[in-house]
Amino acid sequence: MRPPSSLALATPRGGRPPAARQSRFRGGKLGRGSSFGVLLAALLVGIHAASWAQDEVPFITTPDYVTLAMLQLAGVGPADRVVDLGSGDGRIVITAARLFGASGLGVELVPDLVQQSRRHAQAAGVADRTEFRVQDLFATDLRGFSVVTMYLLPAVNLQLRPRLLALPAGTRVVSHDWDMGDWAPDRTLTLEVPDKPIGREKKSSVHLWVVPAAVQGLWCTAGAQLDLTQRFQAFSATLQARGVAAPVAVFDGRISGTVLQAVGSLGEPRADLRLDRDTLQLQRAAAPASAYEGRRFRRAGAAGCSD
Ligand SMILES: C[S@@+](CC[C@H](N)C(=O)[O-])C[C@H]1O[C@@H](n2cnc3c(N)ncnc32)[C@H](O)[C@@H]1O
Repeated sequence: MRPPSSLALATPRGGRPPAARQSRFRGGKLGRGSSFGVLLAALLVGIHAASWAQDEVPFITTPDYVTLAMLQLAGVGPADRVVDLGSGDGRIVITAARLFGASGLGVELVPDLVQQSRRHAQAAGVADRTEFRVQDLFATDLRGFSVVTMYLLPAVNLQLRPRLLALPAGTRVVSHDWDMGDWAPDRTLTLEVPDKPIGREKKSSVHLWVVPAAVQGLWCTAGAQLDLTQRFQAFSATLQARGVAAPVAVFDGRISGTVLQAVGSLGEPRADLRLDRDTLQLQRAAAPASAYEGRRFRRAGAAGCSD
C-alpha cells in the first residue's frame, strides 16, 4: 500500500484544526484546563517554546502533511503497530492504518477526543485496525509497538525518554517539533507549514530516533574480548586478544537498532557488528581485526571473560 503524496484525511473537515482542548500535566497527573488556558498556552508557545509553561500539553493537531512526513520518516508499513501518545483526534493512528496499512493505538486523556477518534476511524474504514483509549500516556504499556509517535512538549519527551530507550532495539520514535535533549535524533526534517496554528515560524520539525541496542559492557569470544562503551547511538569498541595488552583494534561508530557500524577518520568502513538476541557478531572488519570476522561475542559473566 503506497501513501499518496498529499493527504485528505477522511476525518477532520477542512484544513483547520478543531477547536483546541486542553489537558494539563501537574506533577505527573493530568486533568482538564480552561479554554482560556488553551489560548494562552498556544500564544506562548508561538512566542518561544522555552517560555511556555512546560507542564501543559494542549490539543493542537499535527497538520496532515506533517503526519504523512512523520509516518514516512519512520518507514511505517503493514507490519507495524503504531502508538500515538496523546492522540488528540486520532489522525496519526488513522493515517497510519488508512494509508500505510499499519494497526495502532491512540491514548488520550480527553474523552471527547477519544470518541471523536473512534468516529473518525469508523468513517475512514479502519476501526478494525485501530483502537483509542482514554488513558494517561505515562500509564501506557509501550511493549509491542514498533513505532511510537508524539506531539507533546520537550519536558514530557524527556520524561518519556528512559522508557523509550528501554524499548526493543529498532523501535522507531517520531516526534513532531520537540526533541529529546542530548539524545540526538537519527534524522530530522524541517517542513514549511504555512497554516501552522501556532508559532510565528510557520515550520515544523519532524525527528526520528531508532532505539539503539544496549551494548555497553564487556563481550567475550574464545581467546578475545570486545569492550564497548555507548552513549545513545554512539559507541566505541576495543577488541583485544586475551592476555595481550595492546588492542587489536579500536572502533568508533554509530548504532542503528541492532546494527553497529564503525568508520575510520575518512568515513571508510572499519567494522560491522550485529546484535542477534544475546550475541554480538563481528560481521566484517578491516585488517587486522578481519582475523575475527564472523566471531560471536557473548556478554561477560561476573568474573569477566574466561575461556
Ligand atoms: C499537541 S496534541 C497532539 C495530538 C495528536 N497527537 C496530533 O499530533 O495531532 C497533544 C495531545 O496530548 C494529550 N495529552 C496530554 N497529556 C496527556 C497524557 N498524560 N496522556 C494522554 N494524553 C495526553 C492532549 O490532551 C492533546 O490532545
